[in-house]
Amino acid sequence: MAADGNIDNLLHETRRFAPSEQFQANAVAHADLYDSAAKDLPAFWGDQSRELLHWHTPFTTTLNWSNPPFAQWFEDGELNVAYNCLDRHVEAGNGDRIALNWEGEPGDSATYTYAQLTQEVKKAANVLLGLGVSRGDRVAIYLPMIPEAVISMLAVARIGAVHSVVFGGFSSESLRARIDDAAAKLVITADGGWRKGKVSALKPAVDASLTIGGEENPSTVEHVLVVRRGENDIDWAEGRDLWWHEQMAAADTEHEAQPFPAETPLFILYTSGTTGKPKGILHTSGGYLTQVAFTHKNIFDLHPETDVYWSTADVGWITGHSYVVYGPLANGATQVIYEGTPDSPHTGRWWEIIQKYGVSILYAAPTAIRTFMKLGRHIPDQYDLTSLRVLGSVGEPINPEAWVWYRDVIGGGTTPVVDTWWQTETGAIMVSALPGVTTLKPGSAQVPVPGIHIEVLDDRGTPVGKNSGGLLVVAEPWPSMLRGIWGDPDRFVETYWNTFAGKYFAGDGARLDRDGDIWLLGRVDDVMNVSGHRLSTAEIESSLVSHPRVAEAAVVGASDETTGQAVVAFVIVRSVEPDDDDADGDGDGQDDSHAARDNGTEASAASGSGTPPEDVDALAQELRAHVATQIGAIARPRQVFIVAELPKTRSGKIMRRLLRDLAEGREIGDTTTLADTQVMTVISASVG
Ligand code: WT7
Repeated sequence: MAADGNIDNLLHETRRFAPSEQFQANAVAHADLYDSAAKDLPAFWGDQSRELLHWHTPFTTTLNWSNPPFAQWFEDGELNVAYNCLDRHVEAGNGDRIALNWEGEPGDSATYTYAQLTQEVKKAANVLLGLGVSRGDRVAIYLPMIPEAVISMLAVARIGAVHSVVFGGFSSESLRARIDDAAAKLVITADGGWRKGKVSALKPAVDASLTIGGEENPSTVEHVLVVRRGENDIDWAEGRDLWWHEQMAAADTEHEAQPFPAETPLFILYTSGTTGKPKGILHTSGGYLTQVAFTHKNIFDLHPETDVYWSTADVGWITGHSYVVYGPLANGATQVIYEGTPDSPHTGRWWEIIQKYGVSILYAAPTAIRTFMKLGRHIPDQYDLTSLRVLGSVGEPINPEAWVWYRDVIGGGTTPVVDTWWQTETGAIMVSALPGVTTLKPGSAQVPVPGIHIEVLDDRGTPVGKNSGGLLVVAEPWPSMLRGIWGDPDRFVETYWNTFAGKYFAGDGARLDRDGDIWLLGRVDDVMNVSGHRLSTAEIESSLVSHPRVAEAAVVGASDETTGQAVVAFVIVRSVEPDDDDADGDGDGQDDSHAARDNGTEASAASGSGTPPEDVDALAQELRAHVATQIGAIARPRQVFIVAELPKTRSGKIMRRLLRDLAEGREIGDTTTLADTQVMTVISASVG
């Protein structure tokens, strides 16, 4: 069955959701986008780019692919990315439209119209110029989710410099590695930001990072610009450190945006991968902005005059670059940005924010959705979510059950859910349904975006055809593709372009169903081989999540004497859905999952939602049987462990490698990229 290297796939999902007539009537996207893209791919992107962006100097060529894999899009055109995101909206008479509704974690808030945001960015651009930052220089940004993060990124872009945003949760070592790799001249940070009800300090980490290696190892950083946010005590290096508010108060308010060539580097964003030194993924200006604007408009059905859009991503990730900063602002959208975590100060915080601002488009990660499923629908049910009309998902496969829960409970049973597949490297969404056009299938990312050419190949590079699985590749260049790995062209070619000559290798398994729709199966490194069958983690996890007792599942292949590898599952149980207000049924009206996390040393506590210890074995047996019925005996887990938590990175991806260590009885490997470094102790204890 798997002799050709295909990934076997057996899970069936038959639910379908056609667009409503009402949605279709006002839809931004139309089916003819597919037809015009199919006729001439570069010409299609050229048309889109002219329509969506302002070019100071129009381009005459669309794509130069004469030296693959080094693409040039719109190479003789000139534009200014910040002008496209700001000034032109003001010039078009939309200066009073709200660009940012910012919500701080403690409940403070601020609003910026397009005119105000433009003004702030002009001042910040002058601050940067005054500090000697010029075109092509690199600026590291290490900030919480506050408006200054957006302002900084746009100010850097405005003067043709290059930003490298480092997620505020990264350590001083990680920050220093990124500063060194890009030779950054300036760091923009804050004293601290709010997270989980307290101030989490940032400036001390910058101080520590710049002194790593002592005087023998000076950094390239000349200045540190510090936003006051946390009001925590910080040290101050005279001459090096400068307060943002003082610099901004003194800055000139006039700044005219200069046009730069389309291939001007816009940003570097580091992506860790599973091993080795982080890769500095390089994105440039014109092609990137074209595709983020196009996808943001069509995939989220954006009506900029009326919609309120919210992506919950942090600017430290690619989603925060493409779908908080550049896509929405290029399109003149009104959006919400939120500083804190979903559970501060209470687990209804997201839904409260949606109600407060009347959010109509929500873009979130499956891990958050599954966490809310686990807590139970009585929490979102307390808020008015009727403003929502489009829901998006990104970051991991969204299991059909979580997809349906998202649509029903958050979307009131009517909103389209778009599952968007892409990567830091692709810069923008590559595979997704188009709301109002596509009939939706829960669990499938569905179809390539118009203008994107996706293939699923077997190990020899032959397309697998419908109803088969293999490796996902992008077969033609696309406007927002990475232009390289900063300072390492060989690694760029080696990592992405050598597996299948001339095609981009994404590292994800995928299958095509009978209709040719795409289902993502997880990272190729995570694929399991059981008795010669290649099974996908995503599929077995989806089967487990389709059981009414399961909120979240992670599956790994552990070495097994008879079958080569055996399926081992780690499962988080869902709160029992209450008829009353008490989710966990213990009469206190409180959710116990946090209590469980704090003392997750027994099976009962580990289940997190009141599963009595004697039920744990029975439930594990039931889940093994459930997978066997749904997928087939080959996929039946050898073991199912009921746990309180799963190991996740700060961006919400499950670290299956650590679970594999546990399942194979090895010492747990490197845990430094975990969001919660204690979590493996808790899981190990409940696994026993
Ligand atoms: C990897 C890229 C794209 C922004 C956030 C993550 C996984 C992403 C999906 C999806 C299945 C997905 C893939 C991909 N992934 N979206 N809709 N369905 N898997 O960016 O950190 O660069 O991670 O995330 O495995 O390769 P990233």
